Amino acid sequence: MLDDAPRSTWLVTGANGFLGANLGAFLNGRAHRVGVTRSGTGHPMFDECVPGELADPVTLVAAIERLRPDVIVNAAAMASHEACELMPDLAVQVNAVAAGTLSAAAAGIGARFVQISTDAVFDGSQGRYAETDATQPFSVYGRSKLDGENLVSSNSDALIVRTNFFGWSPTGRRSILEFFVNELSDGHTVRGYTDFVVSSGYVQVLCDALWRLVEGRSTGLLHLTSSDALSKYEFGVAVAEEFGLPSGLIMPVESDVQPPRNRDISLDVSRAEAVLGSRLPSQRDGIALARVDTLGLRFELIAAE
Ligand SMILES: NC(=O)c1ccc[n+]([C@@H]2O[C@H](COP(=O)([O-])OP(=O)(O)OC[C@H]3O[C@@H](n4cnc5c(N)ncnc54)[C@H](OP(=O)(O)O)[C@@H]3O)[C@@H](O)[C@H]2O)c1
Repeated sequence: MLDDAPRSTWLVTGANGFLGANLGAFLNGRAHRVGVTRSGTGHPMFDECVPGELADPVTLVAAIERLRPDVIVNAAAMASHEACELMPDLAVQVNAVAAGTLSAAAAGIGARFVQISTDAVFDGSQGRYAETDATQPFSVYGRSKLDGENLVSSNSDALIVRTNFFGWSPTGRRSILEFFVNELSDGHTVRGYTDFVVSSGYVQVLCDALWRLVEGRSTGLLHLTSSDALSKYEFGVAVAEEFGLPSGLIMPVESDVQPPRNRDISLDVSRAEAVLGSRLPSQRDGIALARVDTLGLRFELIAAE
């Protein structure tokens, strides 16, 4: 991009995480980037970093009031379903209460607030969920994220984005794209669930859409993923084909979730497409975009870790 116009300041929580680090990379040259990490130590994808513990966000709120960012993206979360089941009170504190606190702090300084939420607010019995469909989380994680949405929604300037994404991560093994690329490259046989369906999107496409939505001053609730739904098995085959890896190593299996239930948590993104004024890529298109980033962004993220 870039011109001589003054750049806005974006403060991003979860700067060390999969989405946070990708957003830092995307914002390079577009905005002044303040990353929030638990330790406060610097992160190469951000211009500066401040400490922030969401279980007790007093220090972070003070930093927000001092720095007065234009935009706050809450990309931090207890994102592990297992950890949330083990520590439900902490999940509520981090995923819900802190989101509400940060949103109020944003409103207090007139900053835009973007809450990153999840497709796991739905139970998977239907698929192609629209923003108007009834939520029914099946996990502590999903419930805590939904509580977070509800607490944030009292901030009328907030944008709440339900998403699911794949791509390159700082650890090199955070996303399902990395799982299939790593395992198939090593010649390992893997299982691909045929009955677990999502509409996951390439994370850099998500970052670009977040940028455009904030620029366009969008508020309210939006579903933001790929435009199509694939099972985990179909996704793995698409990754194999795009990366020239052996798709025959992916065994189609049904998941052993108990009790057995439908698991199609794909999202209908037509409202986001209407607001953005453009189609969102399919999952295959997103995988192709990720392949283009294999030699650049993939290694930049890992080197930054
Ligand atoms: N990955 C997906 O496909 C997906 C799907 C749906 C929704 N989401 C949502 O997208 C957002 C980003 O997810 P992600 O995949 O990037 O997760 P991630 O890689 O696990 O990153 C989460 C970040 O949150 C930070 N964090 C966790 N607990 C914290 C606490 N108590 N205080 C401060 N920071 C804390 C972590 O810090 P440390 O690095 O210090 O642990 C990490 O940087 C989350 O809101 C998640 O719910 C993700």
